[in-house]
Amino acid sequence: MDGVTLLSDYKPYPFEIASVSLIFRLDPAATRVLATLDVTPRQPGADMVLQGEDLTLISLSLDGRTLAPGDYLLDETGLTLPAAGLPAGPFRLQTEVEIAPAANTALEGLYMSNGMYCTQCEAEGFRHITFYPDRPDVMSRFHVRIESDLPVLLSNGNPVGQGPGWAEWDDPWPKPAYLFALVAGDLRATSGSFTTRSGRKVDLNIWVRPGDEDRCDFALGALARSMTWDEEAYGREYDLDLFNIVAVDDFNMGAMENKGLNIFNSKLVLASPETATDTDYERIEAVIAHEYFHNWTGNRITCRDWFQLCLKEGLTVYRDQSFTRDVRLGGLKRIEDVAALRARQFREDAGPLAHPPRPDRYKEINNFYTATVYEKGAEVVGMLATLLGPEGYRAALDLYFDRHDGQACTIEDWIKVFEDASGRDLSQFKLWYTQAGTPKLTVSETYAAGTLTLDVMQMTPPTPGETEKPPRHIPLAVGLLSPNGDEVVPTVVLELTETRQSFRFEGLSARPVPSILRGFSAPVILERATTPAEQAFLLAHDTDPFNRWEAGRTLARQTLMAMARGEGAQLDYLDAVGRLIADDEADPGFRAACLRLPGEDEIAAALFARGDTPDPEAIRVARRKLMKMLATRHGAALSRVYDSCAVAGPYSPDAGPAGRRALRLATLALLTTEDGGARAAALFAEATNMTESIGALNLLVAEGKGQGQLAGFAARWAADPLVMDKWRMAQGALTPPEDAAETVARLAAAPEFDWKNPNRFRSLLGGFAANHAGFHRADGAGYALYADWLLRLDPLNPQTAARMSTAFETWRRYDAPRQAHAKAALARIAATPGLSRDLGEMVGRLAG
Ligand code: ARG
Ligand code: ZN
Repeated sequence: MDGVTLLSDYKPYPFEIASVSLIFRLDPAATRVLATLDVTPRQPGADMVLQGEDLTLISLSLDGRTLAPGDYLLDETGLTLPAAGLPAGPFRLQTEVEIAPAANTALEGLYMSNGMYCTQCEAEGFRHITFYPDRPDVMSRFHVRIESDLPVLLSNGNPVGQGPGWAEWDDPWPKPAYLFALVAGDLRATSGSFTTRSGRKVDLNIWVRPGDEDRCDFALGALARSMTWDEEAYGREYDLDLFNIVAVDDFNMGAMENKGLNIFNSKLVLASPETATDTDYERIEAVIAHEYFHNWTGNRITCRDWFQLCLKEGLTVYRDQSFTRDVRLGGLKRIEDVAALRARQFREDAGPLAHPPRPDRYKEINNFYTATVYEKGAEVVGMLATLLGPEGYRAALDLYFDRHDGQACTIEDWIKVFEDASGRDLSQFKLWYTQAGTPKLTVSETYAAGTLTLDVMQMTPPTPGETEKPPRHIPLAVGLLSPNGDEVVPTVVLELTETRQSFRFEGLSARPVPSILRGFSAPVILERATTPAEQAFLLAHDTDPFNRWEAGRTLARQTLMAMARGEGAQLDYLDAVGRLIADDEADPGFRAACLRLPGEDEIAAALFARGDTPDPEAIRVARRKLMKMLATRHGAALSRVYDSCAVAGPYSPDAGPAGRRALRLATLALLTTEDGGARAAALFAEATNMTESIGALNLLVAEGKGQGQLAGFAARWAADPLVMDKWRMAQGALTPPEDAAETVARLAAAPEFDWKNPNRFRSLLGGFAANHAGFHRADGAGYALYADWLLRLDPLNPQTAARMSTAFETWRRYDAPRQAHAKAALARIAATPGLSRDLGEMVGRLAG
C-alpha cells in the first residue's frame, strides 16, 4: 500500500549492533557525522537496510575497505547493503555524512535554535543525522564525540573526556536511536544533586540560555520530587551519575526523555511568578516528572515498534498523573484530567481521526502522538490498576520491570505481566488497546423491598474502519448514598463484561441515590435518566469528589443545551451553584472547578451527540447568558468570595494558594459579565503575578474590551516571547467571534510574529482554533484563514502543521454551509502541490 506501515508486517532486525561511535564536527551549514557501527549478523542472507534522509554521503567503508557506489543501493529513504557483500560474522561499518542543521526548519534530527545545536530524534529523527536502523527495537551502546567551539557540549550518559573544542560522552545503557541526544551552545546551568536511596549521588543540571537562570529553581525542585516519588511509589531508582535537562526555544512538542539528557520546550522549564501562571507551574512539574519517569518506562523498557507507543506513553502519563495527585490535591487533579480527556480524546474518538491506543497502521507516525495514545492510554493503565487493586498493580509492575528490563516490548508483553501477576484472563480487556471508540453505558435502576437493581447496557458506536464492537471489560465504581446524604454502600467496583448486566444491592433501608462511575473509573460516556434535583443532591453530598463535580457539570451542560435550543435555565442548577458559592468548607480549587461552565465546544459535542446540529452563535449566547444569570442571582455572594480569596504575601505555586486564585478568577469571570469589567481592570492593574495578570486580561478580551491593557501588557513584555504567547493566545481564543478572524489575521501579519517558532504559531493559531464561534464562523472566514496558515507552515515544519490540522476534526457536526466551507478548506489543502506526508495523511483522514 502507498506509504502505509502495518503492524502485521513487523519483522525483527536481522543484525545486532552492539555499539555505535559517533563523531560530530559541528557547523551550521555543513556538519560532518562519522559513524562506526559494530555489527553482528543474526540471520544469514539478509540485506542490511539503514534509514537515512537528507544526508550527503561522503564515504562508506566495511572493515576498513571503502565501498564503491556499485556495492550498495542509495535512495531518498536510505542505504541498503546487499547480503552478498556482507561477511557472515561480525563486521565494522563506517559512514561519513554531511548535514545542514541551520537549514533544518522541521526541528527533527539535528537543528539549531537561537544559536544552539539540539536534537529531536523521536520518532524517526535519527535518520536525518546518519545512516542507521532507525527503529526502537535496535538497541546499542552509544559513544559520542562532539567537536565545536561552543562552550557547553552535551550528549547522553556520562562525560568521559573533554578539552578545548571537544567533549566525549559514553552511555552505558543500550538504547534505541530515538533516545539519542546532542546539545551544543552557550548555556548556563542551575545545579543541584540528589542521592538515591541506595546511595548514588546524582548531579542535576537545568541548562538554559544566559539570562534565563533565574527561572529554573522550580524545575530543579520538581525533578528532585519526581526522583523521590518514583523510588517510593514504584521502587525505581535513577541509574546514571548525571541528569541533564536543556531548555530549547524551538521545539515541536512538550519535551523528550533522551537518556540522561532530557530536552524540553523552554515553556515547560522556565517559571517565575511574574511570567508563569499557576497552571504553567503545575504543568512544568508534571512534564518534568513525565520525562523523568520515562527513564524506566520508555528507556530501560522501550517499545518494539511505534505501534506500541502507548506502552511507554500511556503508562508514563498514568505515572505522572498519579504523581501530581500525590503531591497536589488528588481529587481536583482527577477532575482536571478527566475534563482534559473529554475535551481532547473523546472528541478525537467521536470524529474521523478515531484510532485505538494501539493502532495497526500509519503513514506518518508523528501523527499518532495523540490524546488517544497518551491520555486514553493512561486511562487504560488506570483501569488495570483498579481491577487489580494497589498491591496487585504494584506486583504487576515489579514483574514488568524484572521480566522486561533492557527489552523492547509490546502491548502483549504488558498484558501478559498483568495476567501472570493476577492469575486473571485479560483477553477481553485487551480490546481497550486494539479498538477505537468511547463505550456508552446506559444505566437504569429499580428499587423494591430493600433491593436496588442496576441494569447496565454497554454499546460502542462504530469508528472509521471498525464496525464490529464487541462488549468491553469495564470496571464500574459505584457507591450508594442515603436520602439524608450518608454513604450507605461505600465504593465497590463492578465488572462489566457483557452487553447487558444487572447488579443487586440488598438489605437497604430506604431507596438510595446511586453514585455511578466514581473517580471516572473507566473512559466511557455514562447515560442515566436522572432528575436535576438528584444531580443537585449529588453535587451537595457525594463523598467522591469527582462525582460531586460531575453532578454539577451535568447540570450545567444540560441547562446550557436547553438554553442553546431556546429554552429557559434550570432553577435547580442556579440554586445548586448558589449553595456551592456559599460553601466555605469546600476546597477553593474544587469550587473553582465547579464554577467554570462547560466550554462551547463541549456543549456543541453534547448537542451533536443527541442528534442536534449545534449552532456556535446560539451556544455562545446561551453560555454568556447563563454566566450573567448566575452573576445577577448570586452577585453579593460572588463579590464576597472574590474579596475574601485574595492571596496575600509572597507568591507560591502550591495547590493551596493556587486554588484560592483559581476560585477568585472563577468568581471574577461571572462578575465581569455584570460590572462592565471594572473588577477585572482593577485586578489587572494591581496584579503582581502572571496568574492574575493574564487571568484578568483574558476576561477583558472576552468582553470585547481591554485594548488599553493589551497595549500595556505588550509594552511590558515585548522582549519575553513566552509571555507574549499568552497575549496572542488571549486574543486568538477570546476575541468575540465577529472580530476574531480579523484580529488573528492582523496579529499573524505583524512583523514581530515569528510564526516559524512552534510556540508562537500554536499560541495564536491554536488559540484561534479554540475560539469556537470565531473559528466556526458561518461565512467560513475562520476555516479559510486557518487553512492559509497551515499551508504556510507545512513546507517548513510538517509535523506541527499536521498536528494543528486537528482543529478540523469536528467539521461534520455543523450545518451544511459550514460543512461546505470546511470541506473546501480541506480540499484546498489536499490539492496543494508538494504537501507533506504528515499533513497529507491528516487531511485525507479528516475529509474521508
Ligand atoms: N516521548 C516524548 C514525550 O512523550 C514525545 C516526543 C514526541 N515527538 C515527536 N516528534 N513525535 O514526552
Ligand atoms: Zn512521554
